[in-house]
Amino acid sequence: MAFLDKHKAIETHATLLMVLSLLVVTIGGIVQIVPLFYLENTIEKVEGMRPYTPLELAGRDIYIREGCYGCHSQMIRPMRDEVERYGHYSLAAESMYDHPFQWGSKRTGPDLARVGGRYSDEWHVDHFTYAKAVVPESVMPPYGFLANRVIDGKYIKDTMATNAMVGVPYTDAMLENAVMDFKAQVDPNGDSSGLEERYGDAAFGTPINVRNFDGRPELTEMDALIAYIQVLGTMVDFSTFTPVANR
Ligand code: HEC
Repeated sequence: MAFLDKHKAIETHATLLMVLSLLVVTIGGIVQIVPLFYLENTIEKVEGMRPYTPLELAGRDIYIREGCYGCHSQMIRPMRDEVERYGHYSLAAESMYDHPFQWGSKRTGPDLARVGGRYSDEWHVDHFTYAKAVVPESVMPPYGFLANRVIDGKYIKDTMATNAMVGVPYTDAMLENAVMDFKAQVDPNGDSSGLEERYGDAAFGTPINVRNFDGRPELTEMDALIAYIQVLGTMVDFSTFTPVANR
């Protein structure tokens, strides 16, 4: 066939094949990349997203330090089985304040993108202490030591300032009050009005969890980690959310 004969000319000349392949790939690349330059933003804005509170941010650092992403993803794909198991698929905006993001690539355990509020704090304390006590077939390692590690938020202002450098909208007031807000979130009897005012309902339309997360008198890494886990996937209200495509 004439067409195949012509193609043979390409396939038997390595240089020609390479040049033409490059051309095809370039066109494909341009078609994908150029439109991105004309978009103002590739992240659709959604109501309710706020930067993590100092305590949640500290918990997130513990999550990263302990390598939880090695077994857990935080990205629900828009496929029926995932949506039915984990909830609404993840939106780009939901990880826009995550530096680095925690999408992960391995699910030895379940996706955690919407685990916030699914279990009680006590459940998490028991589960982190010894997962098999609550889920007998679990292979998740124990993290009970976190409850013995007292933290005081010494570095949290610096961590927040670093996040601010890469675009997380922490204000000067948030940075100035970092340590106070850090401690206020675990003290339900204390004065958490400043924390509420800076991160809460009035500012972002999302309530904040203020309580003693691990049930111990000291402020520990367990408190921070549970504060982080309990906020995952809870900022956007999906009872009122409609994707741009359906508006
Ligand atoms: C070796 C793999 C592994 C590591 C590392 C790991 N997990 Fe898990 N995790 C699992 C497995 C498997 C399950 C499911 C069984 C269970 O609930 O224990 C699970 C379950 C969970 C659940 C309950 C999720 C649900 O929807 O039921 C949470 C929350 C969780 N892990 C958090 C963490 C955090 C936080 C860390 C890091 C401190 C971590 N995991 C580290 C394997 C792991």
